[in-house]
Amino acid sequence: MPLQEELEILRKEVKNYLQEIARGEALSQYEFSILGRKGKFTELAKKIAQAPAEEKPAIGKQINELKHELEEKFQVKKQEFHAQTTDADMIDVSLPGAFQQYGHLHLVTRAIEEIERIFVPLGFSRMSYNEIEWDYYAFEALNMPRWHPARDEWETFFISEDVVGPKGRVLLTPHTSSGQVREMQKRSAKGQGVRMINIAKCYRRQSDISHVPMFHQFEGLAVDRSVTMRELIGTVEYFVKNFFGKKRKVRLRPYHFRFTEPSFEIDVTCGICNAKGCQYCKDGWSEIAGAGMVHPNVLKAGGYDPKKYTGFAFGFGVERSYMMKNNLNIGDLRLLYSNDIRFLEQF
Ligand code: PHE
Repeated sequence: MPLQEELEILRKEVKNYLQEIARGEALSQYEFSILGRKGKFTELAKKIAQAPAEEKPAIGKQINELKHELEEKFQVKKQEFHAQTTDADMIDVSLPGAFQQYGHLHLVTRAIEEIERIFVPLGFSRMSYNEIEWDYYAFEALNMPRWHPARDEWETFFISEDVVGPKGRVLLTPHTSSGQVREMQKRSAKGQGVRMINIAKCYRRQSDISHVPMFHQFEGLAVDRSVTMRELIGTVEYFVKNFFGKKRKVRLRPYHFRFTEPSFEIDVTCGICNAKGCQYCKDGWSEIAGAGMVHPNVLKAGGYDPKKYTGFAFGFGVERSYMMKNNLNIGDLRLLYSNDIRFLEQF
């Protein structure tokens, strides 16, 4: 092909490129393939040698002119492009890479998983019940009639004053014990006993270093023909040794709950001060649970004959138990829900 023709083709190509490079990104690519050392201009220039002698000067001149024109336009485009580029678009490849932060499950979620792992091998099935519940299951079926003052201890959030159904008012579960009678009714109808663990959210009007309005409890309930207090104590001790460590001590203090008889509160030696006594525990012991043998009226509400069946129940605070773990040193329960990353990332 005559050189002049090739030059015309290149001229057209250059025109097209110039339109395309208006977008900017392709600049360096065209600079390389057209103007570069192995680009089209160099190729064409090499061919001048083969052209007839009389044509050489004219064609050489044209090639040079086109090349300069193109170079100039490239420069203009480049400057425009750089003027549009902000600092944020620039990548400094010598900087260290962006650090990926790893998260982890919340401490309470971890505690719940650990609790479940301890009880399931003992034959307790993990169950869940409504968080919005009838008064009946939270209180009445647990031997606390509507007029009973013991209800006050549960500082309950009621959903609405006006909605009163056949099972009373609607509330946010103030304790996991509200699952007891629901489970018993389900099981007794099938002629079965109960062995369940219910780990769930609870709500009470309270807030200080050992109380928050939304917290978690885990409830254990066993009902059968020969469930004894010995089994209750054994189960609680098994949990304490597995969750807190072999060296920790447990004590049962006589207490009163309407739904258990006899009733206890359960204390462990404080894990914050190592049982020396601190702002959190005061005397070296920390209360973490309530427990007892299921009251005959509650068994009846659950559909069991109290002459044939016995049961035990316990309810632990999840956050309180977690805080009592060795070496954790969380002195204020509210920290667990402050969502302060500086606190959470330490665990
Ligand atoms: N529900 C009780 C509370 O919230 C704890 C408890 C559970 C006590 C089971 C006895 C039996 O304080």
